[in-house]
Amino acid sequence: MTSSNSPSTSTEILDGALDTSVDRAIELLRADRLIGLPTETVYGLAGLASSKLAVRKVFVVKKRPLDHPLILHIASYEDLDNWAQDIPEYARVICKRIWPGPLTIVLRRTNKVCDEITGGRETVAIRVPNHEVALRLLRKLDDGVVAPSANRFGKVSPTTAQHVVDDLGSDVSAVLDGGVCLIGIESTILDCTLSTPQLLRPGAISTEQIRDICGVAVEESSGESRASGMLEKHYAPNCRVELAETHVDAEVRLEILKADNRTAQILDFSGDLALFAANLYSSLRQADTQGIQVVVVVVPPAIGLGVAIRDRLAKASQATSL
Ligand code: TXA
Ligand code: MG
Repeated sequence: MTSSNSPSTSTEILDGALDTSVDRAIELLRADRLIGLPTETVYGLAGLASSKLAVRKVFVVKKRPLDHPLILHIASYEDLDNWAQDIPEYARVICKRIWPGPLTIVLRRTNKVCDEITGGRETVAIRVPNHEVALRLLRKLDDGVVAPSANRFGKVSPTTAQHVVDDLGSDVSAVLDGGVCLIGIESTILDCTLSTPQLLRPGAISTEQIRDICGVAVEESSGESRASGMLEKHYAPNCRVELAETHVDAEVRLEILKADNRTAQILDFSGDLALFAANLYSSLRQADTQGIQVVVVVVPPAIGLGVAIRDRLAKASQATSL
């Protein structure tokens, strides 16, 4: 079946609830084709990890610089030692507890991981996604898949199958439709190559949770950025994103913008962090569809998931700090 909303593309939309759809997705992956894959965080642009051609295609389709390595998605913790080595005990404890889940860990790679995935680095980023459709696919595939978020580089990540088609069109052969992503923002990334874990990107798993699980404090990464999500401008919609600390501040900004003949809108989830994360990207996309020029977002408190939301908002707005 092709998407009714995008008659110009030949992208297959596959119903993730059906085993035949998962089989079709596997067939495409084994033919070095790319598919949209649902996860609990955002949709990924998936290619077979053992196919250098598929991995190269991911970079081309995403228009992603080669020095921004990809996340390898695997079926289970039991598969980890095939892809990574010199794994610290604290990292094992964390993965066993959190996977499948929204946590990516960076470890020293084995030679099963090709240079194309890591841009020649000796480390690889790995996670087990907590999405029933992705897990069914990975368990049947007997391989890993690389999957960056299924958007063009620097843009807002997709949280529905239709977003993937809207962004990538026929550059993606099929999208496995697994519904709306429940979490809505990308995984936490933790560098586990050192004696203590370093946070590379905040996500739904907080540093406090990680510390409580493994008994080791998480350090904030400093110095040169090692994850592309840490670039100053990223996750950016077409509209301008402005940040407000309170709803009243947002209303004042809205008044000023409207007096200046700008189309503007307030986004405020009143401190409901899970709802905020789940709806942030789709709300920004909707603003773009409606031709809104400025979205004024009331920022959440910097606790738990709020830390990750503030990180994405800071980048979407190009604010230097929050
Ligand atoms: O939730 C997610 O993580 C989603 C879903 C699809 O799994 N994926 C995702 O991928 O957000 P992507 O490519 O948009 O972000 C991957 C991040 C990039 O910032 C990249 O630089 C970093 O992971 N990364 C990958 N390998 C790395 C490595 N060896 N060392 C440091 N950072 C790495
Ligand atoms: Mg991304």
